[in-house]
Amino acid sequence: MSFVEYGDTIKDGDTAIVFLGHESMFPVKVQHGTVTQTKYGVIRHSTDLIGKKYGSKVTCSKGGWVFILHPTPELWTMNLPHRTQILYSTDISIITMMLELKPGSIVCESGTGSGSLSHAIIRTVAPTGHLYTVEFHQQRAEKAREEFREHGVEHLVTVTNQDVCKNGFGVSNIADAVFLDIPSPWEAIGHAKSALKAEGGRICSFSPCIEQVQRTCLAMEEYGFTEINTLEILLRVYNVRTISLQIPDLGRAAESNSSTGFDSSSPSNQGSLCTNLQQGTVQFKSGVPLREMVGHTGYLTFATKS
Ligand SMILES: C[S@@+](CC[C@H](N)C(=O)[O-])C[C@H]1O[C@@H](n2cnc3c(N)ncnc32)[C@H](O)[C@@H]1O
Repeated sequence: MSFVEYGDTIKDGDTAIVFLGHESMFPVKVQHGTVTQTKYGVIRHSTDLIGKKYGSKVTCSKGGWVFILHPTPELWTMNLPHRTQILYSTDISIITMMLELKPGSIVCESGTGSGSLSHAIIRTVAPTGHLYTVEFHQQRAEKAREEFREHGVEHLVTVTNQDVCKNGFGVSNIADAVFLDIPSPWEAIGHAKSALKAEGGRICSFSPCIEQVQRTCLAMEEYGFTEINTLEILLRVYNVRTISLQIPDLGRAAESNSSTGFDSSSPSNQGSLCTNLQQGTVQFKSGVPLREMVGHTGYLTFATKS
């Protein structure tokens, strides 16, 4: 297993995702002789995990079962131990596209934080690209290095423990793209410009507050970046629900008028609606937006060095 290459069977040392049910999962480090407790009972790594195929249904000691999933950056983002606020897959997907990341891209990032975005970048630039990520908090930098090693991607990433605003990214004229998720990105725009290739590249800065965005845009303009563009992405999730509606009682006249009733024999209605005249209801399946949705995460400011 590695986060950039699919492995068929679960091996000692892998990071696997234990999937218990809808929005209920957690990561586990597979180790000979270790057990993991779940609400369905114990999973014994030596007998229940090692050697089994990813995607297997594993029966726990109390008779319940879980699925064991191969890790991906998206699953890791949903399950990783938070050391900081992190970026989620909705923002990450637009960042990946707008920075034009692809296999072979050289990317600079700061801060590394919990490594949520880093894993996605690494997967995209593999097998020939590289991520240079800068984190000034020593423990976070060390923990990120340890995770990249455990996830089989250490050859694709260099973690540098320094202040990006003072010391930059530790590289110059090699990056195709730069990403910033720090409180004062405007102080790192000059370093971003030096890290980018002489022929140019793309930059993105993530900031929760509009005042940060304003200062960053001014700094980008000052350093000669073009195509400066700020946007925000909002995700609306839908659940599939069976809706049951009461048929209005319009009296005998309406009952005898078949043209006002629902005709379930019509091909266009088959499978979508179901009338229960005894209960006086009509049922149908529909996509229903969740009552609550994630609001603002941050503004994404993109620009080009040309
Ligand atoms: C919000 S977190 C980044 C989260 C990351 N994008 C993720 O998806 O997991 C911001 C990180 O930047 C680091 N940081 C803040 N200012 C910095 C600076 N000037 N140089 C380097 N790292 C910095 C913080 O220590 C923190 O870990």
